[in-house]
Amino acid sequence: MKQLLAFSGSFSDSSINHDLIEFTASLLNGVEVEVIRLQNFPAPIYSKEIEKEHGIPESITALRQKFDQVDGFMLSTPEYNSSVPAGLKNTLDWISRTEGKIFQEKPVLLMSTSPGGRGGQSVLDHLSGVLPYWGAKLIGPFSLPSHQANLVDGEMTHDFQVVLESHLTGLKKSL
Ligand SMILES: Cc1cc2nc3c(=O)[nH]c(=O)nc-3n(C[C@H](O)[C@H](O)[C@H](O)COP(=O)(O)O)c2cc1C
Repeated sequence: MKQLLAFSGSFSDSSINHDLIEFTASLLNGVEVEVIRLQNFPAPIYSKEIEKEHGIPESITALRQKFDQVDGFMLSTPEYNSSVPAGLKNTLDWISRTEGKIFQEKPVLLMSTSPGGRGGQSVLDHLSGVLPYWGAKLIGPFSLPSHQANLVDGEMTHDFQVVLESHLTGLKKSL
């Protein structure tokens, strides 16, 4: 069975993006999905001195192994100040210091949700532009605005679910 690694770009235990990841994983069948939390793979803010003195953190090596083992990814990231959250960027910067491209030419379903009406559109625009340079085959992006209204008690508003399911079909085809 094909395997996916799924994670939010948030380091918060109450992340609404993690909720979206869990919901999306629940829609998939015929694919094995491992859902992780990046806060379980902590790393210092990247500097070349830290890398020279201490090497790649064990947490990042463990994450790299997971990236190597799967066939594709699901990433739902918060938008911070119209951009990528520092924690996610730091994790990916560390991974980029290991062998090969970050996502190794594998498919990545890119998503974002926010409490506001733009649903992380700025971070999705930015990441859609750069993910191919990070070795991702981009699927999506999928934006879920007004999270509190559109993902309630494990149920998604119908029209958004239809769009999400079409991205999942694309993801499964590209595995
Ligand atoms: C530092 C900071 C900056 C934020 N900037 C934005 C923003 O630019 N656009 C947006 O839609 N929400 C922004 N938010 C609100 C987040 O969308 C909201 O906190 C969301 O719950 C974060 O996702 P998470 O719950 O998955 O961690 C910001 C929140 C923080 C803490």
